[in-house]
Amino acid sequence: MPQPVIRIALFNAKGGCGKTTLAWNLAMGLSRRGATLLLDADSQGSLGDWADWAAESEEHVLSVQNWSEHDPGSADKFTFLVIDCPPSLESPVTREVLAMADWVLLPVLPSPLDLWASQRSVEVISALHADKRDRHAAFVLNQVENHSALSRAAESAVQALGLTVLPVQVARRAIYRNAAIEGKSVYQMGKRATTAVQEFEGIIEEILK
Ligand SMILES: Nc1ncnc2c1ncn2[C@@H]1O[C@H](COP(=O)(O)OP(=O)(O)O)[C@@H](O)[C@H]1O
Ligand SMILES: [Mg+2]
Repeated sequence: MPQPVIRIALFNAKGGCGKTTLAWNLAMGLSRRGATLLLDADSQGSLGDWADWAAESEEHVLSVQNWSEHDPGSADKFTFLVIDCPPSLESPVTREVLAMADWVLLPVLPSPLDLWASQRSVEVISALHADKRDRHAAFVLNQVENHSALSRAAESAVQALGLTVLPVQVARRAIYRNAAIEGKSVYQMGKRATTAVQEFEGIIEEILK
């Protein structure tokens, strides 16, 4: 029996919180474990630029497609589907993705404004998951500054919103930007990206638990 595909959506109604960065690096990490399809559902998306690189890579099975070009019938060729959502709760694409995702990960910056802006997303996701089993949703604190009191305060504030917070956080690191500039993920950045890779391996372990 083939394993069912695991669908992971990266969503937050706010732009700039790290959806694309997390989707791309997560998909690269997952592709080392099984064939992975990265779907760009954000019409302003930037994943297209990276698609060429993914296609050239021989070490992974990672495909990148636009959501609109995706044939749902082909999804069973993959073990993992990672979907980069548009930053809008009203978008029909968002609703469609949130309804089918096994996991919804909400990257969120450790700032009060960003946290408050997530309230409505939590409500919508909770409503969508209310009558479904085996659905997971969690915040991932992104761009966390080490030892920052704000980051710690953010963790408890985010918990108060009523959604799980992944125990693994993504720190603010130049390597994430540098990798993106080179069209690579942190998995292709050698030794200087070891800690960043560990962060993504941690996220993957939480998903596969
Ligand atoms: N952990 C991080 N450390 C450093 N820069 C980051 C990190 N996460 C995201 N960024 C940068 O922040 C910007 C916004 O991230 P992006 O993934 O494009 O957000 P979104 O897709 O939610 O709009 C990008 O320039 C990206 O390189
Ligand atoms: Mg984006």
